[in-house]
Amino acid sequence: MALSAYDLSGRTAFVTGAAGGIGRACAVLLAEAGATVHCADRDPDGLDGTAALIDGHGGTAHVHVLDVTDRARLGEAVRSCERLDVLAAIAGIMHSSPVLETRDEDLDRVLDVNFKGVLYACQEAARVMLAHGTRGSIVTMASGAVDTGGAGLLCYGAAKAAVVQLTRTLATEVGPHGIRVNAVAPGWIRTPMTDRHDREAQAHTEAAMTRLTPLGRVGEPDDVAHAVLYLASDASAFTTGQILRPNGGAAMPW
Ligand SMILES: NC(=O)c1ccc[n+]([C@@H]2O[C@H](COP(=O)([O-])OP(=O)(O)OC[C@H]3O[C@@H](n4cnc5c(N)ncnc54)[C@H](O)[C@@H]3O)[C@@H](O)[C@H]2O)c1
Repeated sequence: MALSAYDLSGRTAFVTGAAGGIGRACAVLLAEAGATVHCADRDPDGLDGTAALIDGHGGTAHVHVLDVTDRARLGEAVRSCERLDVLAAIAGIMHSSPVLETRDEDLDRVLDVNFKGVLYACQEAARVMLAHGTRGSIVTMASGAVDTGGAGLLCYGAAKAAVVQLTRTLATEVGPHGIRVNAVAPGWIRTPMTDRHDREAQAHTEAAMTRLTPLGRVGEPDDVAHAVLYLASDASAFTTGQILRPNGGAAMPW
């Protein structure tokens, strides 16, 4: 297949969590591949930074300051796209607490952002794609947490497992319309989310995560962005309902 399968010229992408970390890397790479990118996040300054990077590469960015748990506002932003070819639902938060100390409000908050925020984006995007007859691609954000039982990761892992099930279910339902739905489940990626703000603690964590990967390093946001570009583009035209794992080999499920 020609490399042009990765070309997104003339296409429109909507990226949540686009103000930083993995979401920013995805927004910039999708723009570099030719897409007009709608960048959504609750962090206005970070969004401006992402838009500036896209502008700097000669791309086109539109900015939406919103909280992904606000279904009405998110729907309005998604529907403002003249057409929609790609959704990358990346926004998420981390929460860690032992099962026995987990409070209802912790679980609710993580499920609201990491699962319902993705669900709302998928629903709104799929509706726009169906209405326009677009054979689009939806990419959701899971995590390596779905591949293992990590101490403290009940809320986070449960929300990400729900994202995987959403991905498979939606892929089954919209596949007959030519819309593909896949998840990425990254390993440990260096972003603001994983920044411990203490150099010694950071080095210790990164060394531990590095030991888990046959490739002998932790991940960078671009490692995930390239996986998202593959899933967003025609290069993955026969791929749906799958989990792609940019994780350095830290987990190798069947
Ligand atoms: N960094 C990792 O190691 C890693 C590994 C696996 C999966 N992930 C997932 O990747 C995604 C991005 O993570 P990251 O590491 O880039 O984190 P990050 O904290 O650097 O970026 C997350 C972005 O989401 C935005 N966001 C959070 N809650 C929001 C809300 N309610 N509404 C709108 N925007 C919101 C933040 O403002 C931020 O810009 C998350 O879903 C995370 O769970 C990260």
